Amino acid sequence: MADFAAEIAPILQKGDVVTLMGDLGAGKTAFCRALVNALSPEPVDVPSPTFTLVQVYDLPGLSLWHFDLYRLEEKEGDILELGWDDARRFGAALVEWPDRLGSLLPKDRLEINIAFEDDSENVRIVELAPKGRMAERVKEVIA
Ligand SMILES: Nc1ncnc2c1ncn2[C@@H]1O[C@H](COP(=O)(O)OP(=O)(O)O)[C@@H](O)[C@H]1O
Ligand SMILES: [Mg+2]
Repeated sequence: MADFAAEIAPILQKGDVVTLMGDLGAGKTAFCRALVNALSPEPVDVPSPTFTLVQVYDLPGLSLWHFDLYRLEEKEGDILELGWDDARRFGAALVEWPDRLGSLLPKDRLEINIAFEDDSENVRIVELAPKGRMAERVKEVIA
């Protein structure tokens, strides 16, 4: 997961949205932790924002806004209050449980699906599904 996040990190730009899908314990937060650390010169503690709902990391070159919307009902007002617009104006957004975004879900996004591997506790299957303008940029990573 750390290696994968390190490949994604350099392609991220201000205004981007990365959505993370997968069951509880799949590794959405683990991916975000690895991504923050891939952009940071110093090791950074990245807790799950289960209760704060959003955590901001000002990193060299990019601010990352890490959202965990699990505890939100689908209410656009609540998401806007968490700083949804600022996230993309001043940085890039990483979103766990993006289904809560409802109509705020941007059409340009990098969707990442993480699934458990049946036979092995520590193996995950990661699917990249870039949408809209993210598609071109992600091609370079996959190639
Ligand atoms: N290959 C892997 N990728 C990500 N997490 C893994 C992997 N193997 C084991 N894990 C463990 O699975 C758990 C994932 O938890 P977490 O990232 O909090 O999940 P989520 O945010 O999707 O609920 C962590 O305890 C992590 O150490
Ligand atoms: Mg999580």
